[in-house]
Amino acid sequence: MTRVFSGVKPTGHLTLGNYLGAMRRWAEVDQHRSEALFCVVDLHALTVAHDPARVRRLSRQAATLLLAAGVDPRLCTVFVQSHVDEHARLSYLLECVATDGEMRRMIQYKEKAARERERGGSLRLSLLTYPVLMAADILAYNADEVPVGDDQAQHVELARDLAVRFNQRYGHTFVVPRATPPQVAARVMNLQDPASKMGKSDDSGPGIVYLLDEPDAVRRKVMRAVTDSGREVEYDPEGRPGIANLLEILAACTNGNPESLASVYESYGALKKDTADAVVEVLRPVQARHRELCADPAYVEGVLRDGAEKARAMARPTVDTAYRAIGLLPPVPEPAALNAVS
Ligand code: TYM
Repeated sequence: MTRVFSGVKPTGHLTLGNYLGAMRRWAEVDQHRSEALFCVVDLHALTVAHDPARVRRLSRQAATLLLAAGVDPRLCTVFVQSHVDEHARLSYLLECVATDGEMRRMIQYKEKAARERERGGSLRLSLLTYPVLMAADILAYNADEVPVGDDQAQHVELARDLAVRFNQRYGHTFVVPRATPPQVAARVMNLQDPASKMGKSDDSGPGIVYLLDEPDAVRRKVMRAVTDSGREVEYDPEGRPGIANLLEILAACTNGNPESLASVYESYGALKKDTADAVVEVLRPVQARHRELCADPAYVEGVLRDGAEKARAMARPTVDTAYRAIGLLPPVPEPAALNAVS
């Protein structure tokens, strides 16, 4: 059976981009047709300046939202990355396989590092090595597929390269994974700045639809989305990125096609109104379920406890194999255990 792994980083409140680019497919498709693991990747939230209490809060919220989005622990494994030591264990081995040049070529690193330098801040070393930890997340489970939005494609490509290199040097150990981006809404753009991704860690609130935004806030944000000065509704991501973004969002929310939807609309206003309504309808059940789950934190904790146990049992044999393959001495068994064997 195909093995799927994906994750979400608790660096901010989850957005419509996270939902349409990744989470919705996890719930609607991946967990039904594969052996799937979905993870709140909290170690990744420590790569930039962070407030410990906020990371804890956002981790719990992300886990609750995954379940609210329909990820079902009876069908898949839901857990928090730091509860399973194998991620960090494997990450170090992969650091011994990856190169410094590879890390510095990562687009997200270059962008985030440039922003941080502009602010005069210092960079955490973990921001540079982050993609290696992400590769460890994926390879520890021998995942075949990684359902992610477009922005993660380069990171999954690195995971592939590291798997191939490790296997060639030290013997076959890892499955070589591949990214599976969605057909529509693979990169939902910021409504106020259609040249940038709608990202949860960004500060520009008016351009970002959060999963827990009230319907009025969603409508306001979509109705005020930046468009160009043209009048005709055309699907032209290069020439008219703002309108193309709205068409993609509407298509994703209604299971439609952005090009054919373009021909239905004669004005930007009508397109914005229908897009706002569609987003509100898509978010409504997620928000209702989120309210229910917030009233039952013990249930969410139980899911995460069981999930971590299952995940550990899946990852440990692969990571142990990698430790042996790369040349590390197996731990010496307790004398009592030796006697029992002989
Ligand atoms: P993160 O937390 O930024 O995003 C979680 C998922 O949401 C997708 N996504 C988007 N898709 C479309 N449009 C957008 N505007 C948008 N914003 C986010 C992301 O592509 C992702 O699929 N490095 C990862 C987390 C991670 C991971 C992993 C993912 C760590 N280890 C192993 C997969 C496998 C990240 O920062 O995602």
